[in-house]
Amino acid sequence: MTLRAKLTGTGMCVPDNVVTNHDLAKLMDTSDEWIRQRSGIVERRHVVPPQRPSELAEVAAQRALESAGIDAGDLDLIILATLSAEADFPGTSFFLQDRLGLSETPCFDLRAQCSGFVYSLSVANAFVKSGQYRRVLVVGCEVHSTGLDFSDDGRDVTVLFGDGAGAVIVEANDDPDDAGEILEVRIHAEGSFADKLWVEAPGSGLHPRMTQEILDEKRHYPRMQGRFVFKHATRRMPEVLLQTLSAASLKLEDVDHFLFHQANLRINEYVATQLEIPPEKCPSNIERYGNCSAASIPMLLDENVREGRIEPGDLVAMASFGAGFSWTSAVLRWS
Ligand code: ACO
Repeated sequence: MTLRAKLTGTGMCVPDNVVTNHDLAKLMDTSDEWIRQRSGIVERRHVVPPQRPSELAEVAAQRALESAGIDAGDLDLIILATLSAEADFPGTSFFLQDRLGLSETPCFDLRAQCSGFVYSLSVANAFVKSGQYRRVLVVGCEVHSTGLDFSDDGRDVTVLFGDGAGAVIVEANDDPDDAGEILEVRIHAEGSFADKLWVEAPGSGLHPRMTQEILDEKRHYPRMQGRFVFKHATRRMPEVLLQTLSAASLKLEDVDHFLFHQANLRINEYVATQLEIPPEKCPSNIERYGNCSAASIPMLLDENVREGRIEPGDLVAMASFGAGFSWTSAVLRWS
């Protein structure tokens, strides 16, 4: 019998602290109108000291475990996708493992930026299908706000990002009558564009990793060539979505819900228009949370499952584009 993997639980967590566009306009030369018009974002959440990423990840994970009806002790593996790790090392997944009260469950961080969640899903899917593990916790978790430039210099990037965590449980599905399954996943990368969207420092490629000069030059803040990113995202997301659906012998019309990475509402509207996908099939929450990178797709999934929009039997397609460059798609049957 071929082993299949399916999603059995979802959860999310965002900090209570709401930061509106108007709040940002008090700190830097920007406006609610500019941010809304360019990105669709109205507000985002930021942690307040001493909140840490693993706290958000823990709450999201506990909610996912609860909805799957299992305990942390039932997990065989934890994968945590992030571009904003809690420490240089070890990975955030280790702090999460401890918070979940586990002592020996294997865990690791996966670094594929905004594509990190679907990359992690592909790894979890492969582990389950190989028979090595039966229950995998996959978390996307970001705390961007502690690493953003809140002066005018950083306004192009800072207004886009928010903090949050989303989690899913991936489990083996042995029941032939249960249609729930991760049907296909595709992951891609193009490293020649790594410096089009990146945080250079501190990094071990620098000698030393951090200096006053680096700080003065603000090389520890994200840098992005926005229009270049936009151009590639709107090409790669439709491409990989069609590739993944074709691999699953499915058509765009078969899909009930398209969960796009929430980087920018304009990117997603452009993709949907290109593919003639009706807007009602493309839910979004970027208005409320901004771009939460690896957390954005599992957060969107959790909201749509809990609000009853995603129902058993529905076909869900995900697609992302992010730094690296990296881009992905997954298609799954919810049950
Ligand atoms: N408020 C006001 N003005 C601003 C702001 C701001 N926050 N940021 C930039 N501007 C100014 C610029 O300085 C520029 O001014 P100038 O014309 O005087 O030089 C003007 O607005 C236009 O700037 P552009 O960068 O050309 O604006 P654009 O229309 O391209 O929109 C945006 C910028 C929203 C960033 C867009 O390029 C975009 O969405 N790109 C993709 C971004 C993205 O998805 N990033 C996340 C990827 S996911 C990941 O992996 C992290």
